[in-house]
Formats: sequence, structure tokens, C-alpha cells
Amino acid sequence: MSSPRRVVSVVGTRPNFMKTAPVVAELARRRDLFEPVLVHTGQHYDDAMSQIFLEELDIGAPDHFLDVGSGPHGAQTARVMERLEPLLQELQPDLVLVPGDVNSTIAAALTAAKLNIPVGHIEAGLRSWDRTMPEEINRLLTDQISDYLFTHSPEARDNLLREGRPAEAIHAVGNTMIDTLVAMRSRIEALDAAGSHGLQDRHYVVVTLHRPALVDSPHLLAQAIAGLDAISQDLDVVFPVHPRTRANMAAAAIAPASQRVRLLDPLGYLDFLGLVSGAAGVLTDSGGIQEETTYLGIPCFTLRDTTERPVTVEYGTNTLLGLNPPRIGEVPALIAAARERPARVPEGWDGAAAERLVNVLSQAAVGAAPV
Ligand code: UD1
Repeated sequence: MSSPRRVVSVVGTRPNFMKTAPVVAELARRRDLFEPVLVHTGQHYDDAMSQIFLEELDIGAPDHFLDVGSGPHGAQTARVMERLEPLLQELQPDLVLVPGDVNSTIAAALTAAKLNIPVGHIEAGLRSWDRTMPEEINRLLTDQISDYLFTHSPEARDNLLREGRPAEAIHAVGNTMIDTLVAMRSRIEALDAAGSHGLQDRHYVVVTLHRPALVDSPHLLAQAIAGLDAISQDLDVVFPVHPRTRANMAAAAIAPASQRVRLLDPLGYLDFLGLVSGAAGVLTDSGGIQEETTYLGIPCFTLRDTTERPVTVEYGTNTLLGLNPPRIGEVPALIAAARERPARVPEGWDGAAAERLVNVLSQAAVGAAPV
């Protein structure tokens, strides 16, 4: 019998953990076929941005930690590559799996591809068509050099085909981040997150804002915080603040005036999704939260001009507000209107995506010959 094939999963930032955890768990269930190895680049390193997710999602300690930390894009990406290359040379994996669109994603994919190690991209084919977003560059390049393109929405396939990727490399397995949500749902509901924060179900809005296009502009950031003050005339506002946003608010002395706008430190997975589940609506510029709210049926308002996840607008509960913070004041009225709107969950957002993904790998003779 041949030995199990070694699959190295590389994660780096908060949103990577929920996309990769179910895949690593599924690979571990099939130990006859696979030997999973987890590498954490250390792009996110605060306990609140990293450690709590490893614990709550039962990922455990990564097998290897590269400790790259923060830095400008070039330096951060280069540091991942420099530290990952000797590790991959030593491990000689049959496949490297990368999720999402962060700097660690492209860095790991590029390192593996240059060592002629097959690469699998989880969440392939998403496009915002906005190349000023660092994530768009990361998505485009990662998809070009990946051998296995795992998609979770219908337009992803079209995007990949249009960019010349071969149909045989594209596998519509569904949404592994939703696998995590499905697996954790009973624990999330048991928490009473709203109650524990002194909030009343459906009487508050959850806010997350961290994109450079918004929070690196003191003008837009000040307008956004004024918008939260406006919402708070109707609803409580709870805002777990990303470290980048916290630093920019402090530097420009921007703070909400209303007592009903609560700034919190970043939350763990269970507490955050607990708050989202009980919310009247969510205001965000995140990618993944547009998907989680669609799955949960919670109205989501995205403060960006574009989304790489149009399926959440077309089928789901997401509305694009534009990068236009003065519109935040409309959120209470938009929530009332959103309750009337029919929404459905896209195909493959069902808790079984990781199983389908690992089935593809088991049938594809990974390690023998890339697609
Ligand atoms: C990164 C991803 C973004 C993703 C986000 C989720 C890229 C290009 N961006 O953005 O797509 O939506 O993660 O959070 O990869 N910091 C800390 N502690 C940490 C991590 C970061 O304080 O644990 C601070 C540092 O000041 C750092 C800044 O946050 O400079 C930005 O961190 P970085 O990893 O560069 O990008 P994010 O903005 O988190």
C-alpha cells in the first residue's frame, strides 16, 4: 500500500482559520490516505486575532509557526516565502492548500508553485474587479498558479474559465467557512451572546470595519463613526474594532459621541457569530461576513463599492452601500425593508464542503500528477 499523501495547509490570518479548519479535520479523518500538516505564517499574531480561533475551532497548535508578523505588503509577503521555502523543501509535501486572499495565501502558493509542488486554492475564482484591493491581486495570482481550484459560488467558475484556467482544475465543492458555522451553530446558540453583552435580540447592529480603503482615510473613518452615532438613535451599535482601525482612530482622535455605540476589542469566533445571529443587521466591509450573514439570514450592509461575493447580493441578504459612509444613517430603515426581501442560501453552503473537497483530492491521485 502507498504511504499517506502529505498535505500542507498554510494559514495566516483570522479569516483563514474557519476556511481551513474543516479541511484539516476531514484530512485527519482520512489518515489512511492523507497526512495533514498545518503551517501558521504568523501574519496575525495577537491572541485575539489568532490564538482564540485555534482554540475555539479545535485546530490546536500548528505544526509549524513562521512568525512573520506585520509589515508592508512586499516585506510581509517576502518573509512568508523566505521562511516557508526551506520548510516545504524539508517536508516535500504532495500538495499545499491555501485559503482565501490574504498576503499569506499568495506567498505560500507562489513558494509551492516554484518548487513544483501542486497547489490547491480554497475559495478560488472570486473577483471584485478592483485591482486597487490587495486581496484582488492575491486572488488573481493565486488562481493562476493553483492546480486545484475549489469554488463555492457559480460565478467563480465563469471567472476562472475567462482567465484561461482549465475546466478540469475547477471543482465546485461549496463553502468550507460555512462548514465551520454549521459545525459550531449549537455552541454559538447556547452562548446567549447578546444577553452576555447586555443587548436585546434584534435591537442592535454589529459593525466591523477594517479595509484600508476606508479606515486608512481619516476623513472616511470620521464619517463612518458619525454614521454609527446616527444609527444609535434607533438601535444599539456594537463594534469589535480591528487593530488597524483602532490605531487609526487613536491617531486621528476619532471616537463616537453616543453612549449607545460600544467599541470592543476583537471577539472570538463563537462570541462574534453569536452577536451576529441575534442582530437586527450587520454593517461591514469584510468579505467573509457577507457570506456568514447570508447563511444566517441576517441583513448585511457592505460599505464598499464592489464585492467579490455577488452571490450574497443576488441570492442572499447583502446590500452594497458603496464606499459612502454618509449612507450608514440609512441602515435602520434599510433593515426594516430587508425583512421583506426573499433570500436563499447558495448551493454547497451546507456543512459538507470539506468532505467534497477531500473527496476530490482522494480521487485525483494528489502527488501523482497535478492537473
Ligand atoms: C488582513 C488581510 C485582509 C483580511 C484581514 C482580516 C491582506 C492583504 N489583508 O488584513 O484581507 O480581511 O487580514 O483581519 O493580507 N495587527 C495587529 N495584530 C495582529 C495583526 C495585525 O495589531 O495580530 C495590526 C498591525 O498594526 C498591522 C495591521 O493590523 O500592521 C494590519 O495587519 P495585516 O495582517 O497587514 O492586514 P489586515 O489589515 O489584518
